[in-house]
Amino acid sequence: VNSLNIILSNEPGADLARLLNAYTQVAVLVDENTRLHCYPLVKDLLPPHLCVEISSGEIHKTLATCGQIWDALTEAGFDRKGVLVNLGGGVIGDMGGFCAATYKRGINFITVPTTLLSMADAGIGGKLGIDYQGLKNHIGLFQHPSAIVVHEGFLATLPERELRSGFAEVIKHGLIADDYYWNLIREQEFAKQQWAKHVKHSVRVKQAIVTADPQEHGERKLLNFGHTIGHAVESYRLIHTPSPLLHGEAIAIGMICESYISYTRKYISKTDLKQITGYLLKVFGKESLGADAQPAIIQGMYQDKKNQGNKINATLLEKVGRGKIDEYISESEAREALDFYEALDIISF
Ligand SMILES: NC(=O)c1ccc[n+]([C@@H]2O[C@H](COP(=O)([O-])OP(=O)(O)OC[C@H]3O[C@@H](n4cnc5c(N)ncnc54)[C@H](O)[C@@H]3O)[C@@H](O)[C@H]2O)c1
Ligand SMILES: [Zn+2]
Repeated sequence: VNSLNIILSNEPGADLARLLNAYTQVAVLVDENTRLHCYPLVKDLLPPHLCVEISSGEIHKTLATCGQIWDALTEAGFDRKGVLVNLGGGVIGDMGGFCAATYKRGINFITVPTTLLSMADAGIGGKLGIDYQGLKNHIGLFQHPSAIVVHEGFLATLPERELRSGFAEVIKHGLIADDYYWNLIREQEFAKQQWAKHVKHSVRVKQAIVTADPQEHGERKLLNFGHTIGHAVESYRLIHTPSPLLHGEAIAIGMICESYISYTRKYISKTDLKQITGYLLKVFGKESLGADAQPAIIQGMYQDKKNQGNKINATLLEKVGRGKIDEYISESEAREALDFYEALDIISF
């Protein structure tokens, strides 16, 4: 047990039952996939409860879906002593938490992450919210759940593409905080990775950073490595193309670009850059973004919530295993980094 009350659990049903003991009203939020694959693993051990199902996917992380959740709680007569269990990936965690934190000015909620991304990242840190008018996580708040129950066993049914996407954050945690761990990861191909171990490591890294800086004034920005360019790539693919990328897939591209900038600033060596780039390409493949993409991606970088005024705030690598926050990058640097990525399959670096 720790300040964020993260429970690494082998028996999520039993652990939830214990946590829910104190409540008379319990609701479990699922989507159709977590209802099918995750809910059966805990259901029989839970006290009597309401199960609220919403449609899966980022496109449903909206105010309209919040309406469905609030309606379900209202119709069931939920009062402020009720509790909401968010059983799912980052969408369920962010949106369910947001709904709970605002329902009747706030009821308790418990996060049960079921994707690698949410176990390693989204489920920890108290950022809650929804997308609004096409802007990601535009409306939301900071609030920690009363507990986070992390059970690696849920990963057994997760589609491989989702697993790979979450892996990007695991890799990020090595690169910004633990070079030993990064070296351990990069010696193994994707199929041989030890997920239980990675989940524990990522939980530890993220928890330490979030505890030190809950509201993202300083150290927490370390977690943004790969995200300044990565987010812009993610939005570009979502808005302007029929082939969106998963979050981690975009972040992998962002990490290559931002490692490249770290190299041009002489923070990391050419060998480091080669290792990072080589490994990320091996795991995630190469996505051609196309020459037309650049203006939109650069434009997207200005949308970042972390910016101040017109400056593009990024987190780079000071060295492998240590991030460097509050590095301001210029448009031309971003362009050069995207060019570097685009050319990767033809350059043998
Ligand atoms: N709050 C934060 O700090 C934070 C950090 C990073 C990302 N996020 C948010 O997280 C979201 C992405 O999270 P995600 O990648 O978990 O996406 P997700 O919640 O959409 O889950 C991905 C897919 O996997 C399915 N699924 C979930 N668990 C499963 C399981 N065990 N077996 C089979 N299928 C399963 C879901 O139904 C969904 O179709 C984004 O909205 C992003 O903004 C939040
Ligand atoms: Zn991320």
